[in-house]
This record gives sequence, C-alpha cells and structure tokens, in this order.
Amino acid sequence: MGKKRIGILTSGGDCAGLNPVIRAVVHRAIGTYDWDVVGILYATQGLMSRPVRCRTLDLHSVSQLLTMGGTILGTTNKGNPFRFPMADGKLLDRSEEIIAGYHELGLDALIGVGGDGSLAILRQIAQKGRLNLVAIPKTIDNDLGSTERSIGFDTAVNIATEALDRLKFTAASHERVMILEVMGRDAGHIALSAGIAGGADVILIPEIPYKLSQICQKIAERESMGLNFSVVVVAEAVKTEDGQSITQADSKGDCRYGGIGQYLAEQISACSGAETRVTILGHVQRGGTPSPLDRLYATAFGVHAVDLIAGEQYDRMVAWQNRQVVSVAIQEAIGQYSAVNPDDTLVKTARGMGIYLGN
Ligand code: F6P
Repeated sequence: MGKKRIGILTSGGDCAGLNPVIRAVVHRAIGTYDWDVVGILYATQGLMSRPVRCRTLDLHSVSQLLTMGGTILGTTNKGNPFRFPMADGKLLDRSEEIIAGYHELGLDALIGVGGDGSLAILRQIAQKGRLNLVAIPKTIDNDLGSTERSIGFDTAVNIATEALDRLKFTAASHERVMILEVMGRDAGHIALSAGIAGGADVILIPEIPYKLSQICQKIAERESMGLNFSVVVVAEAVKTEDGQSITQADSKGDCRYGGIGQYLAEQISACSGAETRVTILGHVQRGGTPSPLDRLYATAFGVHAVDLIAGEQYDRMVAWQNRQVVSVAIQEAIGQYSAVNPDDTLVKTARGMGIYLGN
C-alpha cells in the first residue's frame, strides 16, 4: 500500500468529542500508516475557498485534544453548497469548487465527521466528483440510523442529567415545578435518557403525545404523598397539546425550536396551581469537556475510519452496534432517521418507574 494523503473535516453543529476524533484519526494515520493528514477548516466552506483553508495535522498538533470541547477545525451548519447563498442573494451550486478543492490538496480520501444533514451533502458531493469518502457519525441528537451511538450524545445526556440533579434540590426547597427544556431536534433521546438518569417525574418527547391534565394529575399524586415539587424534562420539538410547533425565527428568517418549556410552565401553573420555573439548557449541551464515553466512541471511530481507508472501503460510515465498531453504507445511515421507538426499552423503563411520558 502506497503512502496516502487524507483530509478530515467536521461539519454541522459542533459537539463534545470532535477534537478527540481528530486526534484519533491523526494518531492512526500517522502512527500506524505514516500517511499525511490535512485538516480542512470550516467544513465544505474551507474546500470552496481559494486558497483552500486547511492546516497540516501532525502528532504534536493533536496532543491536547482528548479533553477539549469544540473542534479545532471549525464547523458550519449553514449554506448547503448545492444552493449556496451568495452576497447578492442568489443561490449558487458550488459543489464543483469543493471537488476541485479536494484535488488541489492532492487528497486520496476524505473523512467527514457529521450528522445526517452534513453526511447527506458530503455524500452527494463525493458521488458527483467520485471522491473517496468515509464518514464518522456525530450529533448530540443521536438520530442517525444504523448506529446506536453518535459522538456528542453521551456528553449532552450527562450535562442534562446534571441540570436535573441540580433542579431537583431547588424544586424541593421552594415547592415548585421545575421544567428543563433540552435539545435533540425531532428526536427525544436526550430528554428520555437524561430524564431517567436524573429522576424526572415527567418526560415529554416529540414521539409520544401527552395530555396536560395527566401531567397535572401526576403532580397532584406526588403532592398527595407530601412531595410538593416535581421536575419535568421536555425535548425542544415537543408540540403544544393541540399540536402546534413552537419555533423562533432568527434575523435571517431561519427557524429554531425553543419555547415549549415556557408554554408548559404557563399551562401547568394554570391547571395545577403550582409555581413553575423554566430552564432552557441550550448550547451548554454541546460545549465543554467530552465525557469518557464520548472520548471512547470518538477514538474507536477515528481509528476504524482510517482503517476503512487503508482497506479502500469508501462510501462507508463507521457505526457502533452491539459493542462493536462496524461499517455501514452512508446511504443506509442517512436514510433511516432514528427517533425514539415507543416500544424502546428506555420508554418501558421510564413507565416502569412511574414517570409520566404521555401515551
Ligand atoms: O442538531 C444539533 C442541535 O444542537 C439540535 O439539538 C438543535 O436544535 C440545533 O442543533 C441548534 O442549532 P444551532 O446551533 O444552529 O442553534
């Protein structure tokens, strides 16, 4: 096998674990195979810039990355290169510039670290330009198909769990109902896992409808046991009881989830008489030190992604299945959105603990 020159980029929303994955790729590629590694800055935007925005990665440059949040390569979750918004307001297909950028760097293969949106775009570019792409799954939402774990999810769950641990004590001290709104886009994985781990009394996820009267009944049941406080965790994409999405538009007109916690606080206060407070956890879930498990997934994924390139197995994504790293077709992973299955073992666990989860 000849010496290779590989690129790596991080794309989409950042999360904890991206720097450990860069570190693992560099260690495997240089330490085992003696290849060259180029870090591409700001994902596809770096590849469409001239000169291409990149930096050489050596073992020294990744020596402090295991515990570092964010991504030293930068990232973006804006600007689909097939419809890239230009300064004059027009949308331009810039995919050929990205393909040319890959060739300008003299790459033999590219590792793309991303969620479903980014990986779909990267694959489309790779197919168009016949580029050698290997993917690594990352997203706090944990909603990519074919993998039980994506980098970033475990850290986000840890942070949301710690928030619940803290909210429980202040809820009890003031006899309040505390509502924690967490991220996850259209999937309720963070809310479900953190809700169980953090001892929430009510967990609301987009996949399961709920009734406000039943939430208030749960709060009343607790009060009848002398527990005059409750903790509710709600995923950001949960709708109002009558099915309305709550979103906020930013200055560019893009819509983001946010606000369901406040809605619930008002409704719960009205139906139960309880004093309510809302905490929106937001991007705290994506920042900071990666958890040990995220470091572990990142390291295992990074090593195996480089090995896929060594075996010239392209258009594949590394995945975690049954405590093993395997590889699956990228198309398979992005084609199967993985929301919470109402028959999931964690849903049964939550119900078994008497947590109200809707029905
Ligand atoms: O997909 C990851 C995620 O953090 C979602 O959970 C959340 O809805 C969204 O990204 C927030 O995106 P932004 O960083 O653009 O506000």
